[in-house]
Amino acid sequence: MEAKTKEIVTVNKIYNEDCLKTLSRIPSNFLDCIITSPPYNMNLRIRDGKYCSRQIVKEFSTKYHGFADNMPIEEYNAFHTKVLTELLRVSKVIFYNV
Ligand SMILES: C[S@@+](CC[C@H](N)C(=O)[O-])C[C@H]1O[C@@H](n2cnc3c(N)ncnc32)[C@H](O)[C@@H]1O
Repeated sequence: MEAKTKEIVTVNKIYNEDCLKTLSRIPSNFLDCIITSPPYNMNLRIRDGKYCSRQIVKEFSTKYHGFADNMPIEEYNAFHTKVLTELLRVSKVIFYNV
């Protein structure tokens, strides 16, 4: 059986997929700079000291097609931890707009 080689990204190609999938294909220290605007979890709010989902408001709830921006806080923190770990692996400089 033929050994599988790791697929890597093609420069100047747009990947419309989960960023973690794309990042996994990028070799370490491959990029000079990343500029990104990650999800802000706009539909999750703190009320009476507890995280809760925001009332459905058109401007926030329908802003992104097919994306609710409403993760439980533990999931949101875990997602950003994974993404930031990957970004730091592949790039020297990161602009993370939060
Ligand atoms: C704060 S918005 C960025 C908006 C963008 N700067 C613009 O001007 O349209 C965050 C974006 O991340 C996308 N997103 C959320 N989770 C993602 C993921 N796992 N991988 C890639 N993109 C994701 C959302 O669909 C949303 O479009």
